[in-house]
Amino acid sequence: MSTVKNVYALGASRNIGYLASLRLLAKGAHITFLLRNPTAFESDPAIQPYLSSSSHGQAHIVKGDALNINDVKRGWEVAGENGDVDLILFTVGGTPRLTLAHGFVLDPPNLCTQAIINVLTTLPSPSAPPKIIAITSIGTTSSSHASVPFLLKPIHNTALVAAHRDKIGLEKVLGHVCGKTAQWGYLPDKDAAGDELDGGVLGKGWKKTEGFPKEEDVATIVVVRPAMLVDGECRADEVDTSGKGRGKGKGKEAYRVQEGDLKNPYTVSRKDVAHYIVEGLLEDWQKWEGKCVSIAY
Ligand SMILES: NC(=O)c1ccc[n+]([C@@H]2O[C@H](COP(=O)([O-])OP(=O)(O)OC[C@H]3O[C@@H](n4cnc5c(N)ncnc54)[C@H](OP(=O)(O)O)[C@@H]3O)[C@@H](O)[C@H]2O)c1
Repeated sequence: MSTVKNVYALGASRNIGYLASLRLLAKGAHITFLLRNPTAFESDPAIQPYLSSSSHGQAHIVKGDALNINDVKRGWEVAGENGDVDLILFTVGGTPRLTLAHGFVLDPPNLCTQAIINVLTTLPSPSAPPKIIAITSIGTTSSSHASVPFLLKPIHNTALVAAHRDKIGLEKVLGHVCGKTAQWGYLPDKDAAGDELDGGVLGKGWKKTEGFPKEEDVATIVVVRPAMLVDGECRADEVDTSGKGRGKGKGKEAYRVQEGDLKNPYTVSRKDVAHYIVEGLLEDWQKWEGKCVSIAY
């Protein structure tokens, strides 16, 4: 049985959120998925047995957009039908688009930032504060950007600026409510293009947004910053001959993960990030809670 029993997942229609959810469902957790397109799982044999219409009924779908606060609230209500939510799994993201007029843009530019504000400001008052796991990216802070390999710097300085601006917003909001920003490294007030975040993706006076929970109500956040994501296999599973995972039997761990920055973070597969979330982070929560970690091969 997993350490979590009731999960509210946003951004889990595919990739890391979805892959981590499958692992959690297999361990017996209930998951409420906020999906813009509820048909996403329709022809998916992996998740079908868990849908609420089946006998197991551990996967609950709420049609909704994380940018719509009423949809997010509805997600909380449905998740609450299975007791207090003990994990918010936040893996929302968007793909920057190249435009002639403005270069690479994210639409909307504050996708993750606004979505996490919606989640936090609608948080019900449970008896125990939920854990929060949020995916951002390597390259968000100045020290993390400095650790990016030379070959990847051009893409970080162009195509990813808009996405990172939004991820810094997301980290700042989480840091604000849990008071951990200082431990997560310097979170810049400007992005790589020199644009102000407060008043930009964050909106002027964002800290005064009504409904932000108190620090003690969300004391348990982990921010995971992955290197460039690839669709490769789960190396941790491949080499998991000992039952303990993460490279046992090969003389080294399948992926590197640590608080702060990693040296030369090139890539990591979505499957290995999902593996870390469920088999590493959640299995050893006390080791990681409150931290901002980087993950790469
Ligand atoms: N690509 C990289 O190399 C890289 C590197 C580091 C970090 N990241 C970040 O890591 C995170 C996870 O990436 P991933 O590749 O596993 O997932 P992904 O393919 O980016 O999926 C993003 C998820 O967010 C959902 N989403 C987007 N807008 C939404 C909205 N308004 N309301 C509700 N859901 C919404 C999508 O749902 P729909 O099905 O409705 O679109 C999808 O489930 C993302 O934030 C990504 O930016 C990416």
